[in-house]
Amino acid sequence: LERFRISSRHFQYSAVYGRGAWRALRQLEKGNYSSAFIVTERPLWARWGREFLAQSLLKVRQVLHVPQGENSKSLAMAGKVAAQLSKCGADRKSLLITFGGGVIGDLGGFVASTYMRGIDLVHIPTTVLAQVDSALGGKTAVNVGGMKNLVGTFYSPRLVVADPIVLTSLSDRAFRSGLYEVVKHAILAGSQLFHLIDHGMANLRAKKAARLSPILAEAARVKIRVVNRDEREAQLRMVLNLGHTYGHAIEEATRYQRYMHGEAVGWGLLAVIRLGELLAITRRADAELMCGLVKRVGPLPSIRDLDPNKTLRLLAKDKKAVGGRVIWIIPERVGNVRIVHDVPASLVAEAFRDTQKLLWHA
Ligand SMILES: NC(=O)c1ccc[n+]([C@@H]2O[C@H](COP(=O)([O-])OP(=O)(O)OC[C@H]3O[C@@H](n4cnc5c(N)ncnc54)[C@H](O)[C@@H]3O)[C@@H](O)[C@H]2O)c1
Ligand SMILES: [Zn+2]
Repeated sequence: LERFRISSRHFQYSAVYGRGAWRALRQLEKGNYSSAFIVTERPLWARWGREFLAQSLLKVRQVLHVPQGENSKSLAMAGKVAAQLSKCGADRKSLLITFGGGVIGDLGGFVASTYMRGIDLVHIPTTVLAQVDSALGGKTAVNVGGMKNLVGTFYSPRLVVADPIVLTSLSDRAFRSGLYEVVKHAILAGSQLFHLIDHGMANLRAKKAARLSPILAEAARVKIRVVNRDEREAQLRMVLNLGHTYGHAIEEATRYQRYMHGEAVGWGLLAVIRLGELLAITRRADAELMCGLVKRVGPLPSIRDLDPNKTLRLLAKDKKAVGGRVIWIIPERVGNVRIVHDVPASLVAEAFRDTQKLLWHA
């Protein structure tokens, strides 16, 4: 097991990674809580709930089911969950446990942060993305008026517990989708994680939970390091946005229907690496190395038929843009990114078009 300490503004908490990690819940101060509730999805809970309860030894007052899918990240659903909590007798001393991917974590975290002005929260992330990214760092959100993550809070969990065994029930596509985020972390962190996944990619595909463990923990460590230094996104946390500027535009241009988030990030990484080359920041050999790892995760569904103008217009609307100006995180080489403010629109467009056709390294 690997145990990390994460500091948030008000307290420190642990994130525990590895096979058997759910047992770490036994150490929760049960006496602090009047009751425990779980927010999850029905099929996921049907598959893993019994094992989770057996290992964690939790006594749960009620399991609340939320329909799967991004649409559940809404104020309406947050209201529903809060109303159910209240009906089942949740009070200020209740504990809310999220058991699911980023959707369940973001929604459940939002509810926990606002129910009776805040009750304690524990995350049990069950997707690759949630284990290496969304369960860490204390951001919660729901989508409002078609805008992703428009309304949200900073609210840290008391504990994060990630067992890779749950990942074995993910579809191949969902599993791969999360790996693009792991590649993002590898590019940010430098050679150690990069080589770990470069050499382990074949095993990763086989979803061997035990072999995955060290890679997930390393990828999580990358985010934790950033979060520990910069909880509120002032500067450093921005680098986590690598690949997400193009990625978000691709997701939005297709109304979040066509690509999984990680797939859009995979394309986003390829495009921003190309942009780095066009800006003469990224050398060709470095670009090839980084693109090679993205591509080795597996086939990405094509973006060839996306309308470049429409997609590029959405870039300026990126939530991370300030006053309409996009801040670019350009991967210079493995382990090094550069923050660039003024990138000519023509190069942004060229990099996107090249990526659509995969022109530059065919
Ligand atoms: N809070 C943050 O810092 C942060 C960071 C990144 C992303 N996010 C958010 O995370 C969300 C995406 O998360 P995600 O990719 O985990 O999506 P998700 O939660 O929708 O999960 C993806 C799919 O996998 C299924 N699933 C989950 N666990 C499973 C398992 N163990 N076995 C089989 N199926 C399983 C889900 O039902 C769903 O259909 C987005 O809403 C995004 O905005 C938040
Ligand atoms: Zn992401």
